[in-house]
Amino acid sequence: MAQTLAVIGTGYVGLVSGVCFAEHGNTVWCMDVDQDKIERLRRGESPIYEPGLEPLLQRNLHEGRLIFTEDLRQAIHHATVVFLCLPTPPDQDGSADIHYVLDTARAIAEIVAHDGIDRLRILVNRSTVPVGTTEQVQTLVRQVAPSADIRVASNPEFMSEGNAVQQTLNPDRVVVGSSDPDVITVLRELYQPFVDDYDRPLLVMDDKSAEVTKYAANAFLALRISFMNELSRYCESVGADIELVRTGISLDPRIGRTYLHPGIGFGGSCLPKDIRALVRSAHQVGMSLQLVEATANINAEQLHRFVERIRHRFGGSLARRRFAVWGLAFKPNTDDVRESPAHKLISALLADGATITAYDPEAMDTTRRVLGDRIEYARDMYSALDGADALIVATEWAEFRMPDWDNIKSRLQENVIFDGRNLWHPNMMQVLGFEYHSIGRRSVFPGV
Ligand code: UDX
Repeated sequence: MAQTLAVIGTGYVGLVSGVCFAEHGNTVWCMDVDQDKIERLRRGESPIYEPGLEPLLQRNLHEGRLIFTEDLRQAIHHATVVFLCLPTPPDQDGSADIHYVLDTARAIAEIVAHDGIDRLRILVNRSTVPVGTTEQVQTLVRQVAPSADIRVASNPEFMSEGNAVQQTLNPDRVVVGSSDPDVITVLRELYQPFVDDYDRPLLVMDDKSAEVTKYAANAFLALRISFMNELSRYCESVGADIELVRTGISLDPRIGRTYLHPGIGFGGSCLPKDIRALVRSAHQVGMSLQLVEATANINAEQLHRFVERIRHRFGGSLARRRFAVWGLAFKPNTDDVRESPAHKLISALLADGATITAYDPEAMDTTRRVLGDRIEYARDMYSALDGADALIVATEWAEFRMPDWDNIKSRLQENVIFDGRNLWHPNMMQVLGFEYHSIGRRSVFPGV
């Protein structure tokens, strides 16, 4: 049966969750403190670039199942289930700062107590939070609203940007962290259209295990990437090809194919932040998670090494060198540049005196907000190359894969490419007449 829900926070997680719940017939009140964002959403405009999101947003808005508001009281008034989809930014020491979650839970409890709402309210935390947060929120709402029936559960999301709508509508699994049979019944009913008992189940576990599951998933994905990145350095040293090794291992079903692509490291709003928070959380109980710590160190080192290779190629200094950078988003199919390896790379090149002209199909505006006029922005991927000493590929957008090679050659000063995402094959690049450096494979030089 369709329900009335509230989603607090219309960032990536909140907006995609809200739209997908509405798509399955629920009435969803989405609340955010950012008035501009709410106004854009009311007009049916998505504030983020996410494939497939805007048409679903517009349809559900039009059909009256999605309502946007800045008013928390209005948002929660009719809702039986309230989802908290709030940021948990890193603190100075890397721990997740949960004050948005706590402040909002407190405000909700105050409204429920003040308005005398006695219906069951389920407060579901969907933000990535350290273990024990669900318990902490439950204690807090009990103190603030002792006579109200507010039950708190954990329901971490696993959506990946660029594919978030499809993943939310067809999740691999839904994790519900609660030991309360009433809560489990309500959430089971809500998620029934999304799951399938056989291969896309809803898993019920205690709240602490659900909280750890989220960190464990992201840490494991990051670990796979760092493993391949570390191995890519080994392959470079011994003359092996990491892409052949990747294929060789990934066909083993015990290993699988995903998250094995070597590159200039992982970025984004989740993986780097979550592994730092997990490491901190372990420190707080007197433990060090050695593999997770190594994962973070290898990631930083991978980017550093790539910059060193570029520096070395140009005689130890990048002063007065000009580079074209293709790709600014932390990965393709998004305009998100949070903790983007491309941005880190550009900052390192700039610090060494280089001039950068960049191009990205979606992330030019988001980059301008961060890097401003420290770099130049090209109209298209080819004009970025004019007069550059080398092309550097930082993000593997599909449109970069089959370029017009003659056009590239006519614009570059020298036919040098540093490919941080292994878009092309070294043999092909050699035949095409490029000096080509990639990750975990031999460098090739024209005519050699
Ligand atoms: C991630 C998790 O996948 C998602 O489940 C969680 O909810 C949030 O964090 P996201 O940040 O959208 O999602 O990005 P993801 O697709 O996982 O990629 C993260 C980073 O790893 C990107 O910078 C990407 O370029 C890099 N990556 C990914 C690699 O370098 N190699 C790979 O093989 C895969």
